[in-house]
Amino acid sequence: MSDLFADQEAPWQEPLAPGAVVLRGFARAHADTLLAAVQAVTAEAPFRHMLTPGGLPMSVAMSNCGALGWITDRQGYRYSPVDPHSGQPWPPIPASLLHFARQAAAEAGFADFTPDACLINRYAPGTRMSLHQDRDERDFTRPIVSVSLGLPIVFLFGGMERKDKAARIPLSHGDVVVWGGPARLRFHGVLPLKDGHHPATGDCRINLTFRKAG
Ligand code: SIN
Ligand code: FE2
Repeated sequence: MSDLFADQEAPWQEPLAPGAVVLRGFARAHADTLLAAVQAVTAEAPFRHMLTPGGLPMSVAMSNCGALGWITDRQGYRYSPVDPHSGQPWPPIPASLLHFARQAAAEAGFADFTPDACLINRYAPGTRMSLHQDRDERDFTRPIVSVSLGLPIVFLFGGMERKDKAARIPLSHGDVVVWGGPARLRFHGVLPLKDGHHPATGDCRINLTFRKAG
C-alpha cells in the first residue's frame, strides 16, 4: 500500500446516478500539484467577480485556463478564447492538470477525455452556486470533471429539470465528481460555504471544472 492515503482509505467510487460518480479522495494525493497550477494560472489571469447577464457581480471568484474560458457579462454566458481583463488568451491548461482530468474521467468510465476548458472557482465563506446546468459547451458527449480542494461544501445534484429534488452530497478536499452520458445535463450547485480553515487553501474552497467546450 502506498502511504499517500495514510490518513484515509484509498480512493473509492460512490455512484450518484447513471453516468455520475463521486471519486472520493481521488485528487488528494495530487492536491499540492493542482493548487500550485492554480497559483500559476491565477498569477496570469487573476480571480475576478464576473457580472451576471443581469449586471450583478457573482459571489464566486473565477478564472480559467485552456483554449476556452467560461465567462459571463451583460452579454450573457459563453466561452471565450481570450481573458476579457487582459485581452490575451487564457493560460494553457498545465500538463499536470490535463493529465489528472483525463485520469479522473477514465476512472469514471469516460475514456479519451481531452478538456479544452478549465474553470477555476474560488468560494469564500457564505458563497454558494445555485442550481444550474452546464450547457454552454458545443456538444454534450463529453463529461464534466469537477475537483474539490480545501474547505468542504455540500454539493447539490438534481435532475434534468430545475424543479427536481436535488440530492445533498458532502464534498471534501480531494473529492472529484464526474458526470456525463445520461447525467451530463443534470442540474447541480453548491450550498453556501461554511466558515473554516483548511491547511491546503486557508479560508476558501477551490473548485476546478474541466470541460470539452469547443
Ligand atoms: C460548478 O458547477 O461550476 C461548480 C460546482 C462546484 O463548485 O462544486
Ligand atoms: Fe456547473
